[in-house]
Amino acid sequence: PVLVVDFGAQYAQLIARRVREAHVYSELVPHSMSVDDMLAKDPQAIILSGGPASVYVDGAPTIDARIFEAGVPVLGICYGFQVMAHELGGRVDKAALGEYGKTEAIIDDAHGLLEGSPATQSVWMSHGVAVIEAPEGFQALAHTEGAPVAAMQDPVRKLYGVQWHPEVTNTPLGQELIDNFLHRCAGLPASWTASDIIDQQVEAIRKTVGPHQVICGLSGGVDSAVAAALVHRAVGDQLTCVFVDHGLLRKGEVEQVKHDFVQATGIKLIAIDASQDFLTALKGVTEPERKRKIIGEKFIRTFEKAARQVVAQAGEKGEEVRFLVQGTLYPDVVESGGGDGAANIKSHHNVGGLPADLGFTLVEPLRTLFKDEVRAIGTELGLPDEIVWRQPFPGPGLGIRIIGEITQARLDLLREADAIAREELTKAGLDRDIWQCPVVLLADVHSVGVQGDERTYGSPIVLRPVSSEDAMTADWSRLPYDVLSAISTRITNECRGVNRVVLDVTSKPPATIEWE
Ligand code: XMP
Repeated sequence: PVLVVDFGAQYAQLIARRVREAHVYSELVPHSMSVDDMLAKDPQAIILSGGPASVYVDGAPTIDARIFEAGVPVLGICYGFQVMAHELGGRVDKAALGEYGKTEAIIDDAHGLLEGSPATQSVWMSHGVAVIEAPEGFQALAHTEGAPVAAMQDPVRKLYGVQWHPEVTNTPLGQELIDNFLHRCAGLPASWTASDIIDQQVEAIRKTVGPHQVICGLSGGVDSAVAAALVHRAVGDQLTCVFVDHGLLRKGEVEQVKHDFVQATGIKLIAIDASQDFLTALKGVTEPERKRKIIGEKFIRTFEKAARQVVAQAGEKGEEVRFLVQGTLYPDVVESGGGDGAANIKSHHNVGGLPADLGFTLVEPLRTLFKDEVRAIGTELGLPDEIVWRQPFPGPGLGIRIIGEITQARLDLLREADAIAREELTKAGLDRDIWQCPVVLLADVHSVGVQGDERTYGSPIVLRPVSSEDAMTADWSRLPYDVLSAISTRITNECRGVNRVVLDVTSKPPATIEWE
């Protein structure tokens, strides 16, 4: 792997992703890991990330200089670049001018790391300390007003450094720099592709699962679908999928799972229509957290019951269900401090939180992957676009998008309005520009309208289109007025009981993406 050493910056994950985008496998490791442990992973290259610290602060994180002598190509970025320069005897000092944000870099030598670069580049900076003089053996490649040495290389020792952040989209030529480092400087082939990942995972799954039976819960989302398809590719009919329809999915999604997914994969599926059960359990409930809790618990109980049936049926045939598939992704693993070691069960209600006495061992074929890789694999495995490119949708579904009590009629109404919004957004080609667009029914609010010759009391529908990188923060999407207008006209015409459509123009924070 290419190791990305995390110095505590928010950018380390982004670097790991960019490496994957160059079709090279990457892994994140903490800077506290010993150099011996890093080298034991047999890295093909190492990237030192940026960090919040300055090399001069007491206790500033550093790295054993042996890392630069192991013959492994190393790229230092921002703080990592300064650590490299400092450790190897360069001069690092307070910058005459701190640079934060968009900065112009003057390229003095467009070779190696900066091969193919124009004479100047717009780059993203965040530093108050600068490399004043490169260590011996290094050529300086670029400078900026505040950074006398903004990029450097020593091709003999295969050591490279850059002050700016090539991993962010605000550095337009950043991916080129990362490509140069990996392919040109470190000589790594672009071989991490969807079909490679599938081959490797299929082999690993077969080895783990052996002759035993596997069970997988489908939620309608991308991750569980791709995880299931991958396991199916590996062990075929040893896999049984369970799909609990809680009645809170969007229009067409139940069919997508029950028909399109099954047709595309040939997977054995047990679908349970529990929608009436859920409605009964939710009767009279309006408090958001209680809704979530009821939906989550009911979901687990329903899945558990189905799982016990699958286990019993397998038992009759003398088989044993030993494994449970889960669609855990790499960011979840990293954020829970994992990496290797113990499985991290998502606290989302999807399939996580199953009682331990079911006694399954987890199979997590996506635990080294980022979302874009999961999508690429899904496509490669032949899953339909509607599943592969499904936007994020909360586990509790439309249940937390009806503000007020959940009833069948309200669900039907919201499902229709949501379908219209999705259709129009797709028609306008906006699906991949926005992160998601919750459509919310303010069921207990009644406002006056006039439709035909009549005065009406109807409930408003809220559109909540947002753009985001990771859902931690978000901004409201500036959708074109004519698209908003088309959605509004259709919803008020086609959804009886809705006489008003409003737009949510709040970022996150202070608001969350969902209303409940
Ligand atoms: P909020 O509303 O917290 O949402 O800004 C952040 C992202 O998470 C999604 N979301 C959920 N996803 N189970 C999920 O699987 C949940 O209970 C849940 N609640 C919110 C939400 O759609 C957004 O993408």
